[in-house]
Amino acid sequence: MVRANAAALAALLIAIAPVLAQDAPPSDPNRLRPSLDPKRTANGLALTPPMGWNSWNKFGCNVDEATVRGVADAMVSAGMKDAGYHYVVIDDCWHGARDADGFITADAKKFPSGIKALADYIHARGLKFGIYSDAGTVTCGGRPGSQGHEYQDAITYARWGVDYLKYDWCSTGSRNAEEAYALMADALRSTGRDITLSICEWGTNKPWLWASKIGNLWRTTGDITDKWEGKHNGYAWGVASIADMNEPLWPYAGPGHWNDPDMLEVGNGGLSTVEYRAHFSLWAMMAAPLIAGNDIANMDEATRSILLNREVIAVDQDSLGVQGRRISKRGDREVWAKPLAGGGHAILLFNRGKTSASIKVDWAQLGYARGAEKQLRDIWAHRDLGRASGSWSATVASHDVVMLKVQS
Ligand code: GLA
Repeated sequence: MVRANAAALAALLIAIAPVLAQDAPPSDPNRLRPSLDPKRTANGLALTPPMGWNSWNKFGCNVDEATVRGVADAMVSAGMKDAGYHYVVIDDCWHGARDADGFITADAKKFPSGIKALADYIHARGLKFGIYSDAGTVTCGGRPGSQGHEYQDAITYARWGVDYLKYDWCSTGSRNAEEAYALMADALRSTGRDITLSICEWGTNKPWLWASKIGNLWRTTGDITDKWEGKHNGYAWGVASIADMNEPLWPYAGPGHWNDPDMLEVGNGGLSTVEYRAHFSLWAMMAAPLIAGNDIANMDEATRSILLNREVIAVDQDSLGVQGRRISKRGDREVWAKPLAGGGHAILLFNRGKTSASIKVDWAQLGYARGAEKQLRDIWAHRDLGRASGSWSATVASHDVVMLKVQS
């Protein structure tokens, strides 16, 4: 009897060993191979990083149905939808009270037509609709949270036509994060509707270690703010600092489950055009969700040309689904690389310094033969640079980037 159980246990361990090996938290994250099997996802959704728009970075709690309708219209007319930005997500502060039966309602002043009508409006434009809630008793903006109402809220969202839920982590007390997110994932699944789950837990409980089979993206940091670097107000970070925190987590990202360094600040006015270009490039290199956070209905040409650069978007959305990483750093001069489907690489030469600098990438750093000749393209300038053997260098302005595609 004992021997039979031991044999059965041994057989089971052999059978699940590859799974355990892949799931084991690595002592050195740079040694973990990315999971590229689309079947190993929570729900088969988000096989490339989600793209869309979210109300929070620009509008905060001042969001209402007229604003969201205007953004939905502009997503189509400005070409955002055609470029792949499909989700229109209302963040915090859309909620009213719960009704007598515990069902959540919308703030009737801000959303007089109701959420279902807004979802219909968005769907009629070929876009998808996202909403926000929180795993605690109240949201970060003080509205009713979903704790204790998970299945009821999931049913409400499905009735309204929700396609994406951003699920926050305020007022959660001593709740276990993995359990709380798994519960909401189960509630969403039980509705039978495809709903992308955005885990917004700020990286506090290292969701990269447990969330890939629960949700589709997980925040890795505190909130982004429209500044270049550093920590602000005790919980928010500038874009370059966020990139530094998100970068080492590259092995955990893959189709259906992405590290989320937070929504874009491009176009919100706190950075220069050059810095916004660097921000957008870093997000694309990191296969980050590209969720615009600006006023799409009133954006200037510089903002438009960044958010709508199809070649940069294609790097983010590359079907291989590998998050790029920093492959060299010499003071302020950095080189980032992202392997692409088909064997090429996207390369980012990134100058963090205060003066312009020459930055070089060697083919050997990319695993190519030292003398190999490669085809190069500048994907911000949309310009072929011809073939180069061994290496490439460029002068990069302060806080700027040169983004290249390298192919055989
Ligand atoms: C938290 C999240 C933000 C935003 C606000 C809303 O701070 O991290 O992205 O959703 O809550 O209150």
